[in-house]
Amino acid sequence: MKGVILAAGKGSRLFPVTHHIPKPILPLANRMTIEYAFDRLKEIGISEVCVVVGESEPRMREALGDGSSFGISLAYVRQTEPKGLAHAVGFAKDFVAGDSFALYLGDAIYSDGFETYARHFTESGCANLNIVKPVEDPSRFGVANVEGWELPLSPMNGGERGLGGEGEPFVGPIQKLVEKPTNPESNLAMAGLYFFGPEIWSVLPDLEPSPRGEFEITDAIQLLIDRGENVLAGVYEGTWFDTGTLDSFLATSSFLVGGGQLIDPASQVRGAIGESVVVGQGAILECLCIEDSVILPGAEIRSTGAIKHSLLGGRVSSDELEGVIEFGLS
Ligand code: G1P
Repeated sequence: MKGVILAAGKGSRLFPVTHHIPKPILPLANRMTIEYAFDRLKEIGISEVCVVVGESEPRMREALGDGSSFGISLAYVRQTEPKGLAHAVGFAKDFVAGDSFALYLGDAIYSDGFETYARHFTESGCANLNIVKPVEDPSRFGVANVEGWELPLSPMNGGERGLGGEGEPFVGPIQKLVEKPTNPESNLAMAGLYFFGPEIWSVLPDLEPSPRGEFEITDAIQLLIDRGENVLAGVYEGTWFDTGTLDSFLATSSFLVGGGQLIDPASQVRGAIGESVVVGQGAILECLCIEDSVILPGAEIRSTGAIKHSLLGGRVSSDELEGVIEFGLS
């Protein structure tokens, strides 16, 4: 099996930081975000990975090279226009070359591995298996109706475990899939990791743009279902983070450092350091106190007051910093 990581997005919800550091190589707990994806793919035996990149291709190539320093072999393909996830996947077709592949959305970070799901995908011979996760606000996601997953009876609601059996995650066939439904019929969100066989390539040319003008991966999977392919969902039992916004980025960072502090030894810090703080290599930080924040490598941050819930890089001088993303240039 091969791996495909979609990393062409602009990371606009983390501007201006992502103007300076492309989102996939933005440090999270002082490792590049995409390194966590490499870990998860390696765990399931994948060593050949293709990254679908956008405008940041030169920076990505410079940072990641041929992948050998991460124990994988890396290829790059460029998505020419931002036309959606299914459009992005299409660029990886030659790389995948008839093999099966795990598709990983570059924004996602997971607490646990996917060995069980990868095995289920391979052994079942299905065309596609998708990692899903119960969420409280399904209308923000692709939503799957999964046979055997009854809302009032689902394990999340204290009900019985489904087809997976004792000690195994719930796995069932997807009956229907809707991207960002106004009235969701299920609480299972598509959680950013998908296993595909070669069947996917035959449906991509038939896709139509969605109401948001994109070629949706969920629509591609619905087409597989419409054509009678066996399409499964596996309910993820770990924690899934989407790192795309300030809140979610900081929540992920906090999780990765266990709520504690990760201060690079090659940084200089003056001030009281509270919970969930990461300070990168070479950073200079002076403040009264800091909590729930990330100071990027090489940053020079000076605050006469407190720094809270912020992502800071470059040169920033201020009284107080709370709930902000900044990358100062002077
Ligand atoms: C994309 C997918 C959606 C999925 C989500 C997971 O949404 O289209 O089906 O649930 O990722 O993060 P987007 O982030 O493009 O809005």
